Amino acid sequence: ENVIMTNQNQSRVTIKVLNQMKNKSEKISMLTSYDFTLAKIIDNSGIDVILVGDSASNVMAGHETTLPITLNEMIYHASSVVKAVNRALVVVDLPFGTYQGNSKEALASAIKIMKESGGHAVKLEGGNEITESIERILTAGIPVMGHLGILPQTEKKFTFKGRQTKEIVNLFKDAKLLEKAGIFSVVLECVEMNVAKRITDQLKIPTIGIGSSVNCDGQVLVIDDLVGLSESKFRFVKKYANLKKVINSAVKSYKSEVLKKKFPKAKHSFKK
Ligand code: KIV
Repeated sequence: ENVIMTNQNQSRVTIKVLNQMKNKSEKISMLTSYDFTLAKIIDNSGIDVILVGDSASNVMAGHETTLPITLNEMIYHASSVVKAVNRALVVVDLPFGTYQGNSKEALASAIKIMKESGGHAVKLEGGNEITESIERILTAGIPVMGHLGILPQTEKKFTFKGRQTKEIVNLFKDAKLLEKAGIFSVVLECVEMNVAKRITDQLKIPTIGIGSSVNCDGQVLVIDDLVGLSESKFRFVKKYANLKKVINSAVKSYKSEVLKKKFPKAKHSFKK
C-alpha cells in the first residue's frame, strides 16, 4: 500500500508517493525545519518532505558554515521535528565528518540518526566519492537521499554547476551512479537549468532542486529564507513573507507597553 494512515487520519507521504508524483508530473514540495513549532506549521500546510538540514548550523546555531554541527545536535533538531510531523516524509542530513571516507562510520551515523530521532531517511552530499557509504547505509534498509551540484559541506566556490563539459559529464555520471546504488531521490543544488532538466529526464527517481530551476521534479528552500527571518541574498531564494518585520514590530510594541505599564493588564494577572 502506498500510504500509511496516521493517528490523525492523514495519509503519510512515502517514497512510493514521491515516485508516483514524479510519474504524474506532480511537483514535490520540500522545506527545511529544525524545531517542533515550525515543523508543525509546515506539516499542517501540506509540505511533502521536511528536511532537517545541516543548514541548522547556520540558521539555528549562527555558524558561518554547515561544518561545525554535530551528529547529536542534528539528532536533537530531528527528534523535535519528528514529534510534530503527521504527514510529511522527514529526511535528516548526515553532518560533515560523519560519513566521508569511511562507510562503516557512515552506517553507524545513519543508524544513530534513525534510532534516536525517528526520522524516515538520511541525506548525504556527494557522488562517486561516497557511493560506498551510501551502499552500506542502504544495506541496513535506511532510505537515502542524495545531494549533487553545490555541496556546502566541502565546497570551495559557491558558483552554479554545469558550465564546463567536464562538470556536466561528472554530474550525469554521479546522478546515474547514485540512482543505481539505490537512493530514492536527489537534491540538485545550483545546477544549470538545462543540465537539471536532462538529469531529471534521465533519472527514474525524483530530483529536488534548489537554485536548479523549475525543470526539477520538486523544490526545496530553507524555511528561514522563505519567511524572511534570515539575511539570505541568494538568487534562488524567494521571500514569501517578512517575519523579521512582524516580529520586530511585536517585540517593540511589547517593550513600549512594559515601559508604559500598559502590559500586563488585570486580565493577564491573577487575583484571589
Ligand atoms: O541543509 C540544507 O538546508 C540543505 C538544503 C539547502 C537542500 O541541504
